[in-house]
Amino acid sequence: MHHFQYRNGELHAEDVPVRELASRYGTPLYVYSAATLRRHFQAFDSAFTGVGHLTCYSVKANSNVHLLRLLAEMGAGMDIVSGGEMHRALAAGVPGQRIVYSGVGKQDDEIRAALEADILLFNAESVQELERINALAGQMGRTARIGVRINPDVDPKTHPYISTGMRNNKFGLDMEQARAAYLLARDLPNVQPVGIDCHIGSQLTTLAPFLEALDRVLDFHERLRDLGLAITHLDLGGGLGITYGEETPPHPKEFGEAVSERLRGRGLSLILEPGRVIAGNAGILVGRVIYTKSTPSKNFIIADAAMNDLVRPSLYQSYHRIAEVQPAGRDEITADVVGPICESGDFLARDRILPGMQQGDLLAVFSAGAYGFSMSSNYNSRPRAAEVLVDGASARCIRKRETLADLVAPELHAEE
Ligand code: LLP
Repeated sequence: MHHFQYRNGELHAEDVPVRELASRYGTPLYVYSAATLRRHFQAFDSAFTGVGHLTCYSVKANSNVHLLRLLAEMGAGMDIVSGGEMHRALAAGVPGQRIVYSGVGKQDDEIRAALEADILLFNAESVQELERINALAGQMGRTARIGVRINPDVDPKTHPYISTGMRNNKFGLDMEQARAAYLLARDLPNVQPVGIDCHIGSQLTTLAPFLEALDRVLDFHERLRDLGLAITHLDLGGGLGITYGEETPPHPKEFGEAVSERLRGRGLSLILEPGRVIAGNAGILVGRVIYTKSTPSKNFIIADAAMNDLVRPSLYQSYHRIAEVQPAGRDEITADVVGPICESGDFLARDRILPGMQQGDLLAVFSAGAYGFSMSSNYNSRPRAAEVLVDGASARCIRKRETLADLVAPELHAEE
């Protein structure tokens, strides 16, 4: 459920006509719904009420500080993968004690900053990283709470680029290596092994892979207990999928119940890292049709929104629903919706049946709240889009549109 609906013949974001936002802030424009974000967070978080848990929103999905603040105010923690994401989380007022840090390539300055912030948990992904965290913590006179990320070798049945828990993926350690890593951690003076972590992939539309991974991790947890390790936290990562088109992912409640049942009586506190399921359907990308053309083989709708704004269709062949902001009742055509970028891979939709939009029409690309703006770039020297947050009848700009001056400033002032 989301709050982008048609009323009085035009698309609204909550109570605000999207047309008005486009004329006030220009296009391409990301529009988010606060009510949807709150609702999604609540639905997810309350699915785990039966078990001690912390829902750490995955910052990478949408890193806007204002969104992070909204979620933090609801009690969310944050899952980060870089010093930059930690900077954002702290700027949004998230206490270090609600931050967990994953990623295969944590660097010294990032580890130091995370130790400084006294984060809840480092999810270490290699023995070298564990040694590095231990050394830096020692230099700083601190102790780092760590977990080891397990690669459970489970197929999440999603796009290969976003599968992370299979044997050949770069993430985590297999059970044998992880066991050795925990034994090492037990003996290192400046790390305290308190967690166990896994994240098997993103946009999962069935529960089975989650539960298979969880069962393997719980078995492994018992082996750790036999080694005398007192693990208190189990981090199950993120990955719950959303509906872009025809997908029917499990409801968070179903996910929560299945996981909670398996954790009962184990004395483990659960950490979850949802990103897409919170932000995905809480945002749309609004563009305007610049031109249309029909070649002998295809119809093209050329919009001012492109792969630099939303790369998912180009990178993962992802489906995003596209519709007119003000439906005009035109006959349907089959068209590619493309942007101005000089690559044939620049498209938002291919061979899509759509109303025959015309020059100047506004279009909305749905389900663009996660991995939309956060993956955007300046390719072809296109300034990045503005972002607007709607809450009921009010709307405010939460990131201004980049200017041409912004594009060249770091180059013109490179020596400063
Ligand atoms: N935790 C870890 C360690 C992760 O690597 C990820 C996502 C998440 C949590 C959040 O997963 P989510 O709940 O959002 O599925 N750019 C891709 C998705 C990449 C996901 C990377 N890791 C896309 O646009 O589909």
